[in-house]
Amino acid sequence: MEYFLTEQQKTIKGLARRIAEERILPVRAELDETEEFPWGVIKDLADSDMFRVFIPEEYEGLGGGCFELCLVIEELSRVCSGIAVSYAASALGPLTLLEYGTEAQKQKYLPDIASGKKLTAFALTEATAGSDASAIRTTAERVGGGYVLNGTKQFITNGGEAELYTVIVLTDKTRGARGASAFLVEKDTPGFSFGKKERKMGIRASSTRELIFRNCLVPEENMIGKPGMGFIMTMKLLDRSRPGIGAQAVGLAQGALEAAVDYTRQRIQFGQPLISLPVVQDILADMAIRVEAARALVYAAARTIDSGAKSFTEESAMAKVFASDTAMKVTTDAVQVCGGAGYMRDYPVEKMMRDAKITQIYEGSNQVLRNAIAFELRKRKARRE
Ligand code: CAA
Repeated sequence: MEYFLTEQQKTIKGLARRIAEERILPVRAELDETEEFPWGVIKDLADSDMFRVFIPEEYEGLGGGCFELCLVIEELSRVCSGIAVSYAASALGPLTLLEYGTEAQKQKYLPDIASGKKLTAFALTEATAGSDASAIRTTAERVGGGYVLNGTKQFITNGGEAELYTVIVLTDKTRGARGASAFLVEKDTPGFSFGKKERKMGIRASSTRELIFRNCLVPEENMIGKPGMGFIMTMKLLDRSRPGIGAQAVGLAQGALEAAVDYTRQRIQFGQPLISLPVVQDILADMAIRVEAARALVYAAARTIDSGAKSFTEESAMAKVFASDTAMKVTTDAVQVCGGAGYMRDYPVEKMMRDAKITQIYEGSNQVLRNAIAFELRKRKARRE
């Protein structure tokens, strides 16, 4: 399919593919086993200017948008989505800063994020607040010169590895979603520590960890946006970032499709390559259709966002839901056509199937997002009436 990429987009995509093939492929199985954070690859990504892709030029970035970010995430995920999500999650903090940060905050942090010197993380989820994001309990109490944070964040991607954390907390416990605010917290701030590192089914090269705040004093100038705007800022940010999870899912599905085609071409059964059997061809053809449809939807959602559209909740949710369901289906089918070999750790598709599951869960479970899509449909019907 022709997606009419610009020369710059082709260069970014090509570079991401090269890093994936040359630097990620040789280590992906080992990192999946050891669950080690991929610092070597993160450094390669930084050296190749990949963290500059989504930062505007005035802050030492390349000036790309959601679409360019998706191109990189897709290429990295085609080889290892655990490494890709460590990269992708580091876009959440800067995206919040770009939308709502002060000029001083942008000048202070964005150049170091663009160069890859500072890896970032975004912290919303808590033990009591998963899909029900406004049920967060971490608080920030106003004191002279700043805010004191208390509470624990759970399942935070890049936790313990990132230098800079965007943390959503309650500055007014009485106002629910309208009492939330966002803060930037640097790793070495006294009172900020890390809890257990999670042991996961998939994306095992990524770090997922608790963040613990105990009387952690954060200066007032580290608040992003206005007090009470934290929840709505987060909802808008997630609308912007969800196509990135879609891109992760598309990359994963593409990798699984390629692995399945390679395997079935060389595997001889009944005196012929598996790929010659109509039953296998049907499965492969359906996999290919689904991957391309998911890619088209993710690219369309990303381009809608970059067009400057004001609201894109529905487009973004559709792209994430469809692509992640596609990744789950396609990686499962890849294991199926690879048979016994596909189930073994020596082949990449079992890892891809494990990695795919989380794309249906994080950055909004597919159930919550279907709800959001249905809500938009109901609004539209009401308008027609
Ligand atoms: N854009 C703008 N504003 C929005 C919005 C959006 N998309 N969604 C909600 N809002 C506003 C509402 O208009 C409302 O504003 P008012 O106070 O002015 O009325 C306010 O936010 C509260 O909205 P709701 O009453 O709809 O809120 P809710 O409590 O019912 O929750 C929800 C809505 C959609 C279920 C939300 O909780 C949600 O998105 N949950 C999923 C959380 C999620 O995606 N977590 C991912 C964590 S990050 C992650 O996973 C990263 C990683 O590791 C890779």
